[in-house]
Parts: sequence; structure tokens; C-alpha cells
Amino acid sequence: MPNILIIDDDQSSSRTLKLHFSSSGFDVKTAASADEGLDVLLANPIDVVVSDIRMPGRDGLSLLTDIRRERPDVPVIMITAFHDLDSTVAAMQGGAIDYITKPIDLDDLEAAVDKALRMRVESDGDALLVEGGDEAATIIGRTRAMKNVFKSIGMVSQSNVTVLILGESGTGKELVARAIHKAGPDADKPFVAVNCAALVETLLESDLFGHEKGAFTGAVNARRGKVDLAGEGTLFLDEIGELSPRMQGKLLRLLEEREYTPVGGTHAKISSARFVAATNVDLAQKVTDGEFREDLYYRLNVFSIDLPPLRERQEDIPLLVEHLLKRINKENHKSIRRVPGNVMDRLVGYAWPGNVRQLENVLIKAVVMSQGDILHLAQLPDEMLEGAAESDGELANEDRLASDSATLSLKDIEREHILSVLESTDWHKGKACEILGTSRPKLDRRIKEYGLKPRMAVNGGMGK
Ligand SMILES: Nc1ncnc2c1ncn2[C@@H]1O[C@H](COP(=O)(O)OP(=O)(O)OP(=O)(O)O)[C@@H](O)[C@H]1O
Ligand SMILES: [Mg+2]
Repeated sequence: MPNILIIDDDQSSSRTLKLHFSSSGFDVKTAASADEGLDVLLANPIDVVVSDIRMPGRDGLSLLTDIRRERPDVPVIMITAFHDLDSTVAAMQGGAIDYITKPIDLDDLEAAVDKALRMRVESDGDALLVEGGDEAATIIGRTRAMKNVFKSIGMVSQSNVTVLILGESGTGKELVARAIHKAGPDADKPFVAVNCAALVETLLESDLFGHEKGAFTGAVNARRGKVDLAGEGTLFLDEIGELSPRMQGKLLRLLEEREYTPVGGTHAKISSARFVAATNVDLAQKVTDGEFREDLYYRLNVFSIDLPPLRERQEDIPLLVEHLLKRINKENHKSIRRVPGNVMDRLVGYAWPGNVRQLENVLIKAVVMSQGDILHLAQLPDEMLEGAAESDGELANEDRLASDSATLSLKDIEREHILSVLESTDWHKGKACEILGTSRPKLDRRIKEYGLKPRMAVNGGMGK
């Protein structure tokens, strides 16, 4: 019978887990704090630990460090807040074998426990300590594909291996590259991005490798290249698929031998940077077509991270909307706090060919146009409103107003108008009456007649 230790300060969650694992044939021990957990672990034969990260007193990450030191053979699975990239990365770096996000899916947890038990035999007990770097860029995502991305960031950030990030444009490739850098031991060293799609090959070469004085017309002074500027930090090679054949050769030398020569220079220099490359083109296809060197492709593709397009992770859209709105509000001194259900439906249902970047741009435009604190349907671009009324019967009336106003009755328009006034006044009926030029009893009758109700705020309200 395998022994499992569950460390969680939340009694009810701990009880649920105990019940579940007992009925699955485990011998279950529980502890309500990090210190108690460590005591139980040291006093009992334990095969696997499941620990919450956030606990009063000492947190799960600091406990993880102790467990790796005292009992390096015992696999630990951490439980993190669902979109907390920082603690997830820290947990993976701290030597957790896996992590599960809240709310806990018992099947996921059990699969992780099974895997941990199987891997136990092969465990090498290498402990990676968590150090600093706690302000990793926030990457939003709760879908399985994004959780895998988080895991990859956690795993790869500790090594110096070359990483290739693949994904359509706007899926967050640069964000992930920065997260890898920030989560690594050289986070305090520079992160330097180079766009490999430069139009003029020699400019790219000089941008990357620098040039000597007089190397070409206009090279009045010598200049350091970005490889040099990156030092022991990260060199982010963006749009790597656009490299010319000659530059592909030079890059291969950089990746393989760590050598490069400034334009007009005679001596090779050595780089100690970590290389992270990104592309939105199908590199394997380019290799097949003879447009991209196979040897460079293999050199780049040591560890790749695939970013899913936004349309394949619709579940993440409401979270992204909330996250991006907060940022956009701040940058534009606006305070959009509510996204009505029908607007959110439209955002979630859209195909987003430009992915998160396009979502961000749509939200920026909408926020800039808006007056009150509500994001209105009419502020979305036309192409998002087309063909909705017929295809989607459950959408609210105001959808039809925006997309198909010709078929609207006066009643529909009145209903829409009253609702939007109510929403813009936060359902303050007195103010709404003033704006509508009507009396309170009349307004109440209309509310009843049209069945108007306040709509839910995004995720229970943003900062209100
Ligand atoms: N998962 C995410 N969570 C939060 N913000 C995101 C996420 N993905 C992308 N973004 C935001 O979307 C925008 C585009 O991301 P980024 O520039 O990293 O994409 P990209 O894949 O490099 O795009 P391109 O191919 O156009 O260069 C940025 O503002 C970024 O902060
Ligand atoms: Mg980019």
C-alpha cells in the first residue's frame, strides 16, 4: 500500500483528498502546516508528498527545499493557484516532480501521483534551489496546453539549452522567451532581442555581430553587436525562419561553436549567451522545401515549446480579457470594469487569427472609445459582430441591435436603451430615470416587462 502525505492548511480540502486517496488504496497521512508536514515525513515511510504552496507560516516552496534536502528520494507534487506562473516555475525549479492547479481535479492529481510513484525508482534526487527571480512576466492560461507551456518554462529555464518557441503570430512567443530568461539563474543579465527578418542582410549581420570602424560606408565607429550585448544573458532570435542562407550559416556557427566575427573584423569572438529562437513559420516544412538548413534546424530544435493558437484555448479568453483590461485601463487612465455576458460570448467565440495580440488590440480600441465602466458590444470591430443574430439564438437582444438593426422592433430598441442606461448607472434607478426622462414607476414597469437584470461582472468584478 503506497503511503501518501497531504499537506494543506485547508481542512475541507485535506479531508476530501484523504477520502479520495484512502478509497484508492493509499495509506494517507495529513498535516496542516509545512512544519508539521516535515515532522510527519521524517517520522514515517512516505512514498509521495502532495503539498499546497500557499499556507500560513512557512509556505510550501520553503518546505519543498527542506524535503529535497532531507528526503531527496521522495517525489513532491505541489498545488498552486491556477494562473500563478511565478510559484509554478519556482515549484518546478525547486524540484517538485509535478504540480496541480486549483481547483483540484482529482483525476489529474491521481495521474500525477501515479506518475510520481513510477518515477520514484529512477529519481536522482538532484535538487535545484529557488533563488530570486520572482517577478516573472505574467502569462495567463489555465488550459492543459498552457500548463504544459508553464512546465516547459520551469524545466528549461535552469539549463542553458537552446530553446525554440513555435506559434502563430501574437500567441505570446516573446513573452515566453522573457519568462524563460526571468526564471533562470541569469535573470539579472541582459535579455536582448534581435529580429532576424531584417530587410538588409548586412544590417542584420552588423546588428547581431557588431562591426569594426570603417567596415562599410557609414560605419564611422566600431559598434558592439547584440550577441556581445547579451553577454551571459539571453539572446532572443525572433522570426528565425526569415534568415537568409548566408546568415543561416553564420548562425549555425554561433550556435554550434559559440563563435562569431564582427563585420569587417578579423578575430572570432566567443559568446556565452543562452539562445532562445522563435518563429511563426513551419520550419520543418522550410527544411523540406530546401529553404532552411537542416543542420541549423536540428541545432535550434533541441527543446521546443509550442504555443497553442487562442482559438484552441477559448477557456483562457475570459481570464485574458480580465488581465488585459486591467493593464489597458491603467495605461489609458480608464476604468472599464464590466464585460456583459453577450460581449464576452462574442470575444470567446471569435476565431482570433491574430491571437492574443489581436485580442489586446481589440480591447485597447474598445476601452479608448468607451465612456462609462462597461465594455459595450458596439465597441467591438464590425467583423466580430457579423452574422451573429441568426446563428446564435441565445444571444441577448442588444446583439441584434448592433448587428442587424433593420429587423429590430421599437420595443427591442427601447429595451436595449433602458438596459444600457441602467448598466451605465450601475443600476441606480434614480439616475437612470433622470437620464431616461421617465418616472420611477414607469421604469420599474419596463424592467419587469422586459425582464431586465443586472449582468454578472467579469470574474466577480475587477477591482471594484
Ligand atoms: N498567455 C498570455 N498571457 C498574457 N498576455 C499575453 C499572453 N500571450 C500573449 N500575451 C500578450 O499579447 C501580446 C503579444 O505577445 P507576444 O509579442 O509575446 O507574441 P508573439 O508570439 O511574439 O507575436 P508576433 O508573432 O506577432 O511577434 C503581448 O502584449 C503579450 O503581453
Ligand atoms: Mg514576437
